[in-house]
Amino acid sequence: MVSSNNNKDMVVTPWEVTGEVDYDRLIRDFGTQPITSQILKKITDKTGKLHLQLQRRIFFSHRDLDTVLKLYDEGTKFVLYTGRGPSGPVHIGHLIPWLFSLHLQEKFGARLYFQMTDDEKFLINDNINLQHTKKYAYENALDLIALGFKPDKTFVIYDVEDIDLLYDITLEIAKRITYSTAKASFGFKDSTNIGWVFWPAIQAAPCFIHKKLTGENVPALIPAAIDQDPYWRVTRDIAPKLGYHKPAQIHCRFLPGLGSGGKMSASKPETSIFTMDSPEVVKRKIWNAFTGGKPTAAEQRKTGGIPSICSIYQYFFYLFEEDDKKLFERENRCKAGEILCGECKQELFFRLNKFLEEHQKRRERAKDVIEQYHIKR
Ligand code: TRP
Repeated sequence: MVSSNNNKDMVVTPWEVTGEVDYDRLIRDFGTQPITSQILKKITDKTGKLHLQLQRRIFFSHRDLDTVLKLYDEGTKFVLYTGRGPSGPVHIGHLIPWLFSLHLQEKFGARLYFQMTDDEKFLINDNINLQHTKKYAYENALDLIALGFKPDKTFVIYDVEDIDLLYDITLEIAKRITYSTAKASFGFKDSTNIGWVFWPAIQAAPCFIHKKLTGENVPALIPAAIDQDPYWRVTRDIAPKLGYHKPAQIHCRFLPGLGSGGKMSASKPETSIFTMDSPEVVKRKIWNAFTGGKPTAAEQRKTGGIPSICSIYQYFFYLFEEDDKKLFERENRCKAGEILCGECKQELFFRLNKFLEEHQKRRERAKDVIEQYHIKR
């Protein structure tokens, strides 16, 4: 099953992530592999210094990453595949797997196929229409491009518009997945609309599109948050039957929101930082954030703060403090009561704002080149 419902609070499905996420448990429940120091060593040999997201185990689990690296050593390239359900604006949590994909594209010279699932979000959500998802597919693509992907290596697939490219592959896939497998993997009910039931075959299709476009049969490596895993389980089962490599995955954690616990989520805008937020809005959200601070400054100076529960600290950890030594120092100074929450908030506000300001400029420029990234026939 997709949800890990033995743990009372934790639900992790492609459509719902709630409760305290226990990542070790997900590795066990989903049957994935932890990213070991051995694999990290192999990656370092190829890329030099580890990317922050590997170094800090933000990407913590995988399937067949070792196989893909081995094939790469033997001369078989891989392609990257990830995507986005364009139901609304992008927040910085969405950028985590995209930034990592960019790193892999740069280090391995890999192509990226990026699926904008304007169809999926329409099918699963009663309240949004196709104009809405189409609009956000465009808006979200601007955020992707702003990160610096190369147009000759990056292929955005807008499902509704580009379905002709996916349809034959989708049919081959759909024919080989039974309703009983789909139901067990995705938790479909009698009341689930049939578009949604068929839909997983469409998310599987880009795993195999590279062969259709180029004739090369190479594996796809999918950097994505772990909630997408059910799709890959069913896809991996049928890949060999269709003569393809099983798609490999590398799974990341969810960026926490600015509240106490829970991932950053567009449905909780006050605890999410959107890429288009203005400095005033960012400031308000950061100032209202949940921290590991004590009720009074005096108490905090005496007994110290608790970085492990602090949402502000998490942002330094995930994105905004690349230097391990400085991160560690911040943690220790907080625990010792040497710094108070205001100082961390101010610093995060400064860094976040700098990032967003540049991102927003690049995003504006992306409007002129967006067509270059659209997959071609
Ligand atoms: N289903 C994903 C979402 O709702 C979008 C998506 C499509 C995706 N293909 C993907 C995500 C591949 C990660 C990897 O956001």
